[in-house]
Amino acid sequence: MTSSAARAQIGVTGLAVMGSNIARNFAKHGYTVALHNRSVAKTDALLAAHGDDGDFVRTETIAEFVAALEKPRRVLIMVKAGDATDAVIEELAGAMETGDIIIDGGNALYTDTIRREAALRARGLNFVGAGISGGEEGALNGPSIMPGGPAESYESLGPLLESIAAQVDGTPCCTHIGPDGSGHFVKMVHNGIEYADMQLIGEAYHLFRAALDLDPKQIADIFTQWNSGELESYLVEITAEVLNQVDALTGKPLVDVIVDAAEQKGTGRWTVKSALDLGVPVTGIAEAVFARALSGSRGQRAAAVGLAAGELAAKPTDIAQFTEDIRQALYASKVVAYAQGFDQIAAGSAEYGWDLTPGDLATIWRGGCIIRARFLNRIKEAYETDPTLPSLILAPYFRDAIETAIDSWRRVVSTATLLGIPVPAFGSSLSYYDALRAERLPAALTQAQRDFFGAHTYERVDAEGKFHTLWSEDRSEVPAG
Ligand SMILES: NC(=O)c1ccc[n+]([C@@H]2O[C@H](COP(=O)([O-])OP(=O)(O)OC[C@H]3O[C@@H](n4cnc5c(N)ncnc54)[C@H](OP(=O)(O)O)[C@@H]3O)[C@@H](O)[C@H]2O)c1
Repeated sequence: MTSSAARAQIGVTGLAVMGSNIARNFAKHGYTVALHNRSVAKTDALLAAHGDDGDFVRTETIAEFVAALEKPRRVLIMVKAGDATDAVIEELAGAMETGDIIIDGGNALYTDTIRREAALRARGLNFVGAGISGGEEGALNGPSIMPGGPAESYESLGPLLESIAAQVDGTPCCTHIGPDGSGHFVKMVHNGIEYADMQLIGEAYHLFRAALDLDPKQIADIFTQWNSGELESYLVEITAEVLNQVDALTGKPLVDVIVDAAEQKGTGRWTVKSALDLGVPVTGIAEAVFARALSGSRGQRAAAVGLAAGELAAKPTDIAQFTEDIRQALYASKVVAYAQGFDQIAAGSAEYGWDLTPGDLATIWRGGCIIRARFLNRIKEAYETDPTLPSLILAPYFRDAIETAIDSWRRVVSTATLLGIPVPAFGSSLSYYDALRAERLPAALTQAQRDFFGAHTYERVDAEGKFHTLWSEDRSEVPAG
């Protein structure tokens, strides 16, 4: 570690878990990294533990920090999302010059990023909202990075970010996503898909326990086996590890001594709120967010234990067949969750004029991030073959996969229901699929009801225009203007 003026290629401010690991990642790739944290203790702790990782410049104040950077300056902010980000941006912007680049790598709400980008652009600064996934390990060894913001800033910034990102088949898991808030929007949907994927895995696990009476070790072995097939993914891999973990205090499976109330930091909720605004049915993600909320309603749950279950069916006796059914149901439901997430990205892109490329996202999610999975290659191929796919489930590969899975999927949802085992994400994904492929939906009745009580009008299957029925006057029908 040395210090001299204006020689660092990148600065990182906010040196908690994520910032310190990304700073080390940059240093390991040969960049000189200026370090800054509100409290200097974190900067010194990082230098004491990992100062040998590369060339760092220690700074204490924002003025020193900015002075240590070559121009155009590139500063990565890794602080707590929200007001802290605004405070740090304000301080930095006051010390930076036209053409400099401020990157927010935190989990910002994309509408905040849109606001911040516009405000900084007006001051001559480039603002890049970059979604970063992969947690602590990814930050250090190669995350998936989703940078938005002005295309010209990516020319200077892109090579740095691409060099520290995860690499899959020689391709970096980082690409310029699009203007202003698009990077954080895409990262938000990524997290939403992560919620859905985790919930689906949780439901599969619960079925193994409650329907087949398997223990965590046996279930771990199944997940390990699944991880060598089409379900191969980071989340399936770590599920096996988690289920194999034994509690040092009690000798029980660790999963059995953990309170069954899932917490959330908010990105899943943001995804669902945004989907509601955009009118996109992300049922898998929504069920996952609600399932966490329900699990956390501990008082209500305690009061409801013992409520009537009705007459329950016998448990499946063919363990191998039901295990395969669960695998197929998990795969098909997962395809639906990703299809819905990509629909939301398409809707966001249209709403904000971002012109996003879905295949690019599948490409950069193949490594580094929490939802990395073998089948992202298939999603990438599907969008490369047809960038205007109306839905991922219509791509030939996924259409065939669901056709193979459909009988198992129905058996799993119906068996779970008859056994009184909750499968909200499996069930809603199957209903979504059935609704999408239905020739007629009960929405015609909904339209009629709306017209009945509110004169909201309806369209006819056999004529153009809007119609209104005079419901109380012998059902005569009149065009509605
Ligand atoms: N943890 C993950 O796996 C993960 C993954 C992806 C993205 N993220 C995002 O990455 C960002 C950093 O996450 P993290 O877990 O490393 O840290 P964090 O706990 O979210 O934030 C702690 C950092 O923020 C700084 N900070 C807080 N308030 C501040 C203020 N008003 N002014 C200046 N600095 C302030 C702290 O400085 P002091 O040391 O002085 O308190 C510390 O460096 C967050 O936005 C997070 O959502 C996290």
